[in-house]
Amino acid sequence: MEIKHIAVIGAGTMGNGIAQVCATSGYQVTMIDVNANALQKALGTINSSVEKLHSKGKLTDEAKRNAQEGINTKTEMSAASSADLIIEAATENKGLKLKIFSDLDQIARPEVILASNTSSISITEIAAATKRSAQVVGLHFFNPVPIMTLVEIIRGYDTDQATIDTVMSVTQAMGKTPIEAADYPGFISNRILCPMINEAIFCVMEGVGTPEAIDQVMKLGMNHPMGPLTLADFIGLDVVLAIMDVLYDGLGDPKYRACPLLRKMVAAGHLGRKSGKGFYTYS
Ligand code: 3HC
Repeated sequence: MEIKHIAVIGAGTMGNGIAQVCATSGYQVTMIDVNANALQKALGTINSSVEKLHSKGKLTDEAKRNAQEGINTKTEMSAASSADLIIEAATENKGLKLKIFSDLDQIARPEVILASNTSSISITEIAAATKRSAQVVGLHFFNPVPIMTLVEIIRGYDTDQATIDTVMSVTQAMGKTPIEAADYPGFISNRILCPMINEAIFCVMEGVGTPEAIDQVMKLGMNHPMGPLTLADFIGLDVVLAIMDVLYDGLGDPKYRACPLLRKMVAAGHLGRKSGKGFYTYS
């Protein structure tokens, strides 16, 4: 089946970034969120991102127009019924995702692929909430989606090759580089990234270095674009903690235990950029 129309579920940071790259690549896009205000905010974010990219010559006039005028927004999930591919990017909550996939299974045409942007929840488990497990796959984008070129493609236990081939070519058409990973906790990206961030938090807790010193070491010594604590604030400390817990529960190795300081900061509501305070303070 040729993919022309993509529905994106969720208008948050990841959802609006995915909707943007789908639209700038020429796909017809419907962005769906139960919260109408979130949809409006998402359109504003997309608008300023495409303005920026266009002004630098990184987007054509047509791609900019597609994103600014062509994204349809809806508050009902049923709007996904005409989509050829559905990408879910809702809140990272297993119960919520299982419900969304069970609903989408009823709404979408039988041949449609259902993809999840989950950062850590098992694709196999999500697929089991549907009657089309061969057509359920992980499409893990990276923040900021318009800039980061990787898409991790997660093959669930039942995902078939035709589904993998389709999402590989769709993500390539978006200008991304798809890389396949098996469905194990954290996939490839977060299995490696989050323990590094967690170790940096242990270094803060044990007084090995200040957050500034730790970030500078990794930026200047390892050429990382952001230090691990700046990146933790960018991702959200609650998200990093949830991923560490998935790694620890799923792999059963104590090397994945979340740092107590991370747990304490999340309990205190210091979640990073989104709450205004994490390892750094944001205005
Ligand atoms: N839209 C358009 N342009 C954007 C943008 C967006 N959403 N976000 C950033 N940019 C542009 C900026 O305008 C700037 O353009 P310029 O160089 O022409 O001025 C350029 O990107 C660089 O931005 P900045 O100058 O503000 O800052 P940096 O040089 O530090 O780059 C960054 C920002 C691209 C975010 C860079 O710091 C970076 O790559 N950081 C690491 C990001 C990362 O690791 N992301 C993955 C997180 S993990 C994840 O998402 C998975 C999840 O499961 C946890």
